[in-house]
Amino acid sequence: MSRLIVVSNRISPPAPEGASSQGGLAMAMSAALREYSGVWFGWSGESTGQYTGQIAMQRVNGITVATLDLEEQDIEEYYNGYANRTLWPLFHYRIDLTQYERSFGEGYERVNKRFAETLLPLIEPDDIIWVQDYHLIPLGRELRERGVKNAIGFFLHIPWPARELILTLPRHRQLVESLFHYDVVGFQTDEWKNAFQSYVVYDADGMTLSDGRIRAFGRTVRPQAFPIGIDAKGFAAFKNSDVAQESFTRMTESKAGRKMLLGVDRLDYSKGIDERMLAFERLLIENPKLKRKIFLLQISTRTREDVEAYQDMIHRLDALSGRINGANAEMDWIPIRNVHRMHSREELAGIYRAADVGLVTPLRDGMNLVAKEFVAAQNETDPGVLVLSRFAGAAQQMREALIVNPFSQEDVADAIKRGLAMPVAERRRRWRALMDGVEKDDVVAWRDNFVAALEEARDAGLKPPRP
Ligand code: ADP
Ligand code: G6P
Repeated sequence: MSRLIVVSNRISPPAPEGASSQGGLAMAMSAALREYSGVWFGWSGESTGQYTGQIAMQRVNGITVATLDLEEQDIEEYYNGYANRTLWPLFHYRIDLTQYERSFGEGYERVNKRFAETLLPLIEPDDIIWVQDYHLIPLGRELRERGVKNAIGFFLHIPWPARELILTLPRHRQLVESLFHYDVVGFQTDEWKNAFQSYVVYDADGMTLSDGRIRAFGRTVRPQAFPIGIDAKGFAAFKNSDVAQESFTRMTESKAGRKMLLGVDRLDYSKGIDERMLAFERLLIENPKLKRKIFLLQISTRTREDVEAYQDMIHRLDALSGRINGANAEMDWIPIRNVHRMHSREELAGIYRAADVGLVTPLRDGMNLVAKEFVAAQNETDPGVLVLSRFAGAAQQMREALIVNPFSQEDVADAIKRGLAMPVAERRRRWRALMDGVEKDDVVAWRDNFVAALEEARDAGLKPPRP
């Protein structure tokens, strides 16, 4: 078996209590790398006075991790800049929030070169290199320019947007061209893959070959959908832990016979948290009998706090939940419990299980692992109902959820009502079908499918022969 080198912006082994949420990528990679010989390479999350290019190697939770520190300017231009002020909003359809600064693009290229230079000495001839997400799109090109002949794959965890949006990005051709230095480019869903292909065909004079590969910029690459899953086995252990049982009991007692709606998200504008709260308020106003019988627990952890759009979001959500509570609360009932903190995986499993309806209503999301965790945490005799946005990649797989348009308060409110009233037989039937998918298409299957596609591309000799 070849050694696997995974490269991602940030190395995030399970965080201590109180740390900011790490998101789906980190959760998935820790699970994907376990029981696999290899290295996880990325930024330590720390800043250093002046960039040294030194790597720190350590074993964390059974995984070999190699980290490098970045200097302030790198972090500002590459991470807070191009990654999170340019690509993230653009790829989530928020051109109103997208900032197009040359210095961001320069920082992005510089850090990708730094990643390539530092990674180079760690690469052995048979290694498979797997680059993760939008922070590192140019890394494959940088490695090839330094003579790396290994199989290199790229996986995009977030959506690939419609071509009309990509066209607003200065130097969009250069960004897309970078992807043609990989052997395989993976997307969460066919929808994102098709959007990429459409740009290549219409805006880069590319063509689709009969075997599914696409050709442009004088190169050929295989684009393919690999829907990511959760660590279903690991999650089952969390679910059965004493901590999960305690948090379930605590949550159930605190429900005091009421029904609980639950949202769990990084505090990100793509997650549709404002719209969700407004839909919930609308439900209460239109169905006053539901007052005092239900409440919404919204757990949103702070993230990317150096970026203004995220700072605004914290204030906006606090104001919104405060207003909704002020206008609707009664002396012994509060409609929204607005919580900004991290929970351990075990605690979270207990909280998910105590929920009657899980609200996963992003406006745009590559996949959304919360939807899958919610399902995995349920009790099969009395499972909760999942309300899921059609704009999450997860909706392509999780058809038995109640699929909603998160932009429509009425649609979301109707689905919540339907979920609350759903007979137990229907809940069990839907849950069983969802759970089968969560177990089958788990993170191990995702990793194995991707690695197999990459090995196949390498063996087919699609790239120049290895040394
Ligand atoms: P994203 O990657 O955009 O954050 P996902 O839904 O795919 O979205 O992944 C989010 C991950 O972060 C999930 O594994 C979820 O359990 C975790 N997470 C989110 N909020 C919290 C929280 N408050 N406490 C613990 N884990 C959280
Ligand atoms: C999403 C992205 C990941 C990112 C995570 C957390 O899942 O796809 O690449 O790591 O959010 O974001 P952060 O900026 O804290 O790493």
